[in-house]
Amino acid sequence: TGNTTVDIGFVNTASCNSAITYIDGDAGILRYRGYPIEQLAEKSSFLEVSYLLIYGELPTTEQLEDFDQKIRRHTLLHEDLKAFFGGFPRDAHPMPVLSSAVSALGTFYQDSLDPFDKEQVEISTVRLMAKLPTIAAYAYKKSVGQPFLYPDNSLSLPENFLRMTFGFPAEPYDLDPDMVKALDLLLILHADHEQNCSTSTVRLVGSAQANLFNSVSAGIHALSGPLHGGANSAVLEMLGGIYDNGGDVDTFVKKVKNKEDGVKLMGFGHRVYKNYDPRAAIIKKSADTILNKDGVSDPLLDIALKLEQVALEDDYFVERKLYPNVDFYTGLIYKAMGFPTKMFTVLFALGRLPGWIAQWREMIEDPQTKIGRPRQIYVGETERDYTPISSR
Ligand code: CMC
Repeated sequence: TGNTTVDIGFVNTASCNSAITYIDGDAGILRYRGYPIEQLAEKSSFLEVSYLLIYGELPTTEQLEDFDQKIRRHTLLHEDLKAFFGGFPRDAHPMPVLSSAVSALGTFYQDSLDPFDKEQVEISTVRLMAKLPTIAAYAYKKSVGQPFLYPDNSLSLPENFLRMTFGFPAEPYDLDPDMVKALDLLLILHADHEQNCSTSTVRLVGSAQANLFNSVSAGIHALSGPLHGGANSAVLEMLGGIYDNGGDVDTFVKKVKNKEDGVKLMGFGHRVYKNYDPRAAIIKKSADTILNKDGVSDPLLDIALKLEQVALEDDYFVERKLYPNVDFYTGLIYKAMGFPTKMFTVLFALGRLPGWIAQWREMIEDPQTKIGRPRQIYVGETERDYTPISSR
């Protein structure tokens, strides 16, 4: 293939021009549309950040109100789509349930799937933003065998999601403002991260002019992997494993350094950040309210803190510039909020949705866009003759 060079894992290859998210991995900088993540985390809301990512500017009061109302109006799932959840086994992992339901959404809205019709893209955007929290809550309810709750459109997006997840139809649900705030912050921190694996998947699928629902559904599958969004569950499993083995952090770190059985320090390292992940820094700082709620501290938090300290001082991690990433502390917070480990990556997906949508729309609108079609270096057999099965 002429002068094609191979770039395994796309370490050096840019796949697009994008005006959405800026990362300086060496300096630990992350900005959405130019706004530092620290400012957005402190001052904004997930809804406002979603608007910013998708439409490019911070909304005026009226624009935000309009966006909010539109989303609130579309939170219900079609009753036939609701019936889907009954078809999965009780112990189904909620990630494939989530992506299946997102694929299925497209079958209910066949009149609005044209990627090049602005109005259709707009209504699909609103439907996805409004319905993913409902789908995620139903995936949870299914896994614990509890009844589904209809959304309550007097509530905000994170409030509605918490109520549909933890509430019961028979009794009122008391929203905890600390939980709502913590969830909103976590969603903001996950909202976009330029050309990560799931976002690149959404773009690649979309580059074939597949519709928004199918592209996002593919992104959810990419996110499910333990090296990507699945890392938040994997961190908790790792911390639990260390705890069960008597809390011996040093032995675990030794195992990681010796690459025994391919063991990694989950929640550490990043393709782009060669410094503390700014999202991890924000989470760690604001985790106290949730992690020390009612004065009960999780023993796994002590293990995490110790692990981080050991890793940050150890040559293996220092030389490779391995720092805690966004997933290192999120699992502990989700656990303290009452989510089972299986749901952690679903929460990541809820947060990442506006980023996927913004990136898909940017790609569709970009006149330079072509179908994504990487080349390869062929390393197989040269030409050879077919041998009949009797002589092999
Ligand atoms: N624990 C131990 N060693 C590690 C780790 C880790 N978590 N991460 C990287 N290394 C080592 C790796 O073995 C390699 O060592 P050597 O040079 O001796 O072969 C070196 O560091 C460079 O790593 P790499 O695998 O070439 O780096 P990458 O950019 O391909 O991988 C990563 C990035 C995030 C997949 C990887 O760091 C990793 O697997 N981390 C653990 C999983 C994780 O926490 N993922 C969440 C990422 S952040 C949020 C998200 O994307 O969803």
